[in-house]
Formats: sequence, C-alpha cells, structure tokens
Amino acid sequence: MYCAFAPGRVEILGNHTDYNEGVVLSAALELGTTCRGRLRPDGKIRLRSEGMGEDVVVDADAPFVRTGEWTDYPLGVFAALKQQGFSLAPFECEFSTTLPTGAGLSSSAAIEVATAVFLGHLNGFALSPLETAKLCRKAENEFVGVNCGLLDQVSSVFGLREHLVHLDCRTETVDRIPMVEGVELLIVNSGVKHALTGGEYNERRAQCFEAAKAVGVPFLRDTTTAQLLETPMPEITRRRALHITGENERVYAGIAALRAGDIQAFGALMFASHESSQENFENSTEELDALVEIAKTTPGIYGSRLTGGGFGGATVSLVATDRAEEAAAHLVKVYQEKTGVVGEAYVCPLGDGAMDA
Ligand code: GLA
Repeated sequence: MYCAFAPGRVEILGNHTDYNEGVVLSAALELGTTCRGRLRPDGKIRLRSEGMGEDVVVDADAPFVRTGEWTDYPLGVFAALKQQGFSLAPFECEFSTTLPTGAGLSSSAAIEVATAVFLGHLNGFALSPLETAKLCRKAENEFVGVNCGLLDQVSSVFGLREHLVHLDCRTETVDRIPMVEGVELLIVNSGVKHALTGGEYNERRAQCFEAAKAVGVPFLRDTTTAQLLETPMPEITRRRALHITGENERVYAGIAALRAGDIQAFGALMFASHESSQENFENSTEELDALVEIAKTTPGIYGSRLTGGGFGGATVSLVATDRAEEAAAHLVKVYQEKTGVVGEAYVCPLGDGAMDA
C-alpha cells in the first residue's frame, strides 16, 4: 500500500499574474488530499473517492476519454506521465480530502499532485518538485482543459511551514519568504461556488494578452502601471491590465514589508489587492466583498482579499494567532447577518508542501 498527500493552497498576493509571467506569493494549507492505493494485476485502473463513494474503472492502455468528472484529474496526470515516456503499471487507489471543493483552494491541484507523487512511489521514479508541478499543470491544461498557470501546483508542491511561496512565473524559480511570527491564515468559504471551467477565467486571460499586445510587449510582466496609463487601448482592457501590474508591484512591496517585519504594511497590500479585483479585474462577488469589508474592522486581522481565480470561492486573511478563533467566529457571524449565507471558516497555519524541496 502506498500513500501520498498534497495540500491545497491560498494565493496571498499576485492575483492572475501567473499566466502573465509575473510574480506571486502563496501558501500551502494543512488541508489537502490523500491518495492511497496499490498495483493491480488485471490491466485496469480503478479510482475511488471516499466522498463520492462510486468506483470508476478504466482500461490502463486505452486512450482516456475526458468526462468532466473529478477522475479527469488523476487520469490526466497518468496520461501526461505516459506521454513523457514513463512506463506505468495499472493500479487502484482511493482519494480522501479535507479540502472543501469549489472554494478556490486548489482542490484540483491537490488531487493532481497527490496522484503524481503516488504514481512515482508506485512505479519507482521521482520527478523533481518543479517537474512535478509542471507535469500536473500540463495535465490540467491539456486533459482537463483549464488554461491555468503554474501557481496552484507550485504552491501544493513547494509549501513550507510558516513561509510564503514566492514564484517567479517567467524564470520559474521558487523561493520561500518567512512569515512574521504569530500569524496564521483565516480562510472563509463564501459558500458561492467557484468553477474555473466557466468562461470568465479564459476571458480575463484573453483581455490580459490583448493589453500586452496594445503596449507592444510579449506579456504584462514586461510593462508597468505608468506605461499602461499612457498607451491607447479600450478602457476595460486597461483596467484588466492595471490589476496585473498593480499585483506584481504589490508582491515586491509585500516581500519588502515581510523582510522588515511589517505585517501591518503587508496587510494593507492585501486590502489594496482586493480593491483592485473589485474595480479593475471585476473578479469579485458581493459575498467576497462583504467578507473583506467585515475583515477590515475585525480585531486581529491584518489584511484580507479574495484568493485564487475569483468569481466566488473564498477569502484569505492574515490574522494574529492569539485572536484567530475569535476573528473567525466574528467574520462568520456578521457575514451571515449581512448576506444570509453561512460561510465556513478555517484557521490554519501556513503549511508544508507535498515534496521536500
Ligand atoms: C486560479 C488558477 C491559477 C491562477 C489563479 C489566479 O487559481 O488556477 O493558475 O491563475 O487562479 O491568480
């Protein structure tokens, strides 16, 4: 019996910068997905999810058909590994998760990374951490059909306790920035579903590429807020692009703030990031806005914003450890009073990734 665990993630600053070859700060969670299983002698792959109950059995050698179900993630990873020339034995496994799905906490990356690590154990190979993240992204892009960047998979692989993961999506380098002591994550699932398979993500992506073209650069990484303000382009395209340049700038400012031990300044950047999501990128929702507004006056919270793709999902706040439970209860209570929706709060430390890196 082999077993692998991969965590979900929160993006802390650097919203939608990854596919623009920008920079991003994230953290792995202690919530995640476990894959347990063994080899199978009969040429079949059998996948089971503890939550869903039902078994899916496919032929290990036949080309897989995408179904739009959760099984696309593990099968996509298997197919991507085979495409890279690995010879893989048939197997069976069961997934169980502590992550809420549809909350924008990268439950999909967690399944992919857990599968990749599990298949490595089972077949006796080890990809490097970066190769693992890239292989999982390839599975998601090419098999699942979501055009995501590298953020989710890198965070799930490279997380480090009490650190932020800093990914430069152009150079594909990762380093880890120590978090100020006594600070934890407070995540609230707004209860409004987040699904990247909806068209908005790809639409925003296209608008970013259009803006880069208007400026005459390959990616928005290559331009600045000042330059965008001077270049003629449709107003909506400009606002989309200003979100990206602003986020890249906030990531660098955030790293400087953490290095100076200034968690208040870091928190202010998170609030500014959310405001830019509201005004420029328009990837927030009323519910996410309500949660961030409440966070602004909640004792113990330094900063708060939507996390991940947007259009629903969760907010992430940085909170003083000794006030975290009280802040979580307050957020959920006022959120329900204001919106009638019951949000789920998770207080958790910045956690380790799936691999030693
Ligand atoms: C989703 C995608 C990531 C990234 C974020 C936004 O989580 O999967 O690649 O683009 O949205 O930053």
